[in-house]
Amino acid sequence: MKRLFTAAFLLACSIVGLAEALPDKSPVTPLASTSAPAPKKQTQADADGKSVGCMTCHTASDRHTMHANPAVIIGCTDCHGGDASVRKQAGAEYEGASSAVYLAAMNKAHVAPKFPRDWHTPASANPQRSYTLLNREHPDFVRFINPSDYRVAREACGACHLPVIQAAERSLMATGAMFWAGAAYNNGILPFKHAVLGESYTAQGEPATIINPVKPDEAMMLKGILPNLFPLPAWQTMPPADVFRVFERGGRVINSQFPEVALPNGTGKLQLLDEPGRPDFRQSNRGPGTGSRIAIPILNITKTRLNDPMMWFMGTNDQPGDYRSSGCASCHVVYANDRDPLHSGPYAKFGNDGRTQTADPTISKTQSGHAHKH
Ligand code: HEC
Ligand code: HEC
Ligand code: HEC
Ligand code: HEC
Repeated sequence: MKRLFTAAFLLACSIVGLAEALPDKSPVTPLASTSAPAPKKQTQADADGKSVGCMTCHTASDRHTMHANPAVIIGCTDCHGGDASVRKQAGAEYEGASSAVYLAAMNKAHVAPKFPRDWHTPASANPQRSYTLLNREHPDFVRFINPSDYRVAREACGACHLPVIQAAERSLMATGAMFWAGAAYNNGILPFKHAVLGESYTAQGEPATIINPVKPDEAMMLKGILPNLFPLPAWQTMPPADVFRVFERGGRVINSQFPEVALPNGTGKLQLLDEPGRPDFRQSNRGPGTGSRIAIPILNITKTRLNDPMMWFMGTNDQPGDYRSSGCASCHVVYANDRDPLHSGPYAKFGNDGRTQTADPTISKTQSGHAHKH
């Protein structure tokens, strides 16, 4: 049964792999978001035109292009998208929800989220524990709040940094392949000692297979170079791999009918207890694929992926040490996370609760969940 299941799983994987590997019939790969990608080269005047409206409200910033080097010439919408022709009306100021004229202009210039309540729109702080929210959002909005998110980085950064993006997506920091491989092998879920699973998503937030552009030969395989990494199967579809009897002596007696999902005591009977110390004489009736039993490690990997996310998701932004964004910004955009100069050097003095020091007047200096600087 186990082998049969593994075979079915691999078959399913290879079908997915095959579908992904087929040549794309459309002449151009569809873009993740609808704003034009940032160009490699443009004049300063062209770039300024893509910032002009934004800067009527974002009157100051730390580095307008997020790059220290003035040779990098890009405007706000090259990275963020949005409408740079919208300007703040003279005299309109931002004083909270009552500033209708101001907010109307802001909403026109900004990209609207699908889930404003979850993002606490218009507040721009990273929401706490956003879990899969980025996967459910529209790529245009993902690009607006974080152009360096991997779902959209090809458009905002790809013209100049494509090789870095490709390497970053395949990095363990993004795929978590080693952790997933260890958990799957050690718990008997998959029979392989090399990694088969890894985290990756399409721009639309669907699970994606990572395919090595070079088909590794045997020598490369021996050195650990992988042909592909498949998405983690949905936890509710993975039966347990073990058929062990109840571990400990005594304990609860499981009757022959399995509880319904979400109806733990379907028969209405009291749960019987074995006498402690007496050996079990029954074989556990827990078997692969029966009674909606699932492989718990898969659920745990899924929970870890959300509670302690890697580069595809934001940090949990709920406590010191966990303030960060997703994608390239996970590492390259600093947040105030630690007050100890030994750990965070020059950033220690900015505290540990994710508050900003940005020159941008629109950004709250007291809210948690903002980058240290732009
Ligand atoms: C009418 C004023 C106004 C205009 C025009 C405007 N913004 Fe904003 N923007 C704001 C304010 C105010 C905030 C902060 C809201 C808050 O945190 O309460 C903000 C926040 C943001 C954020 C953070 C959003 C988030 O949820 O993380 C980004 C990114 C941004 N603006 C980019 C732009 C870009 C790019 C443009 C031009 C296309 C632009 N803005 C035009 C007023 C404006
Ligand atoms: C190289 C691409 C790039 C350009 C150009 C760029 N930004 Fe950003 N910006 C980013 C990234 C990446 C982030 C996300 C940081 C994060 O999520 O922590 C960001 C974040 C922001 C934020 C949110 C800050 C906060 O504390 O919540 C605002 C506001 C913003 N940008 C405004 C602008 C404006 C205005 C311009 C033009 C003057 C601009 N950006 C140009 C990449 C860029
Ligand atoms: C128009 C081209 C261009 C675009 C678009 C662009 N970059 Fe860059 N970036 C550069 C160049 C050129 C350098 C090297 C600058 C230097 O060496 O001084 C650089 C350097 C960097 C560095 C290294 C920082 C440093 O100080 O050396 C990071 C990180 C980076 N870019 C991230 C991004 C991200 C993330 C995006 C997209 C949100 C992006 N860049 C978009 C051209 C670009
Ligand atoms: C897991 C953390 C992490 C992530 C995610 C990350 N970087 Fe980096 N990046 C680094 C570190 C660390 C360095 C410095 C490496 C060094 O000095 O040898 C670096 C260096 C760079 C440089 C300078 C490279 C050079 O040759 O000097 C660029 C450009 C850059 N990163 C761009 C990006 C872009 C674009 C992304 C997103 C696609 C990204 N990084 C994602 C950690 C990260």
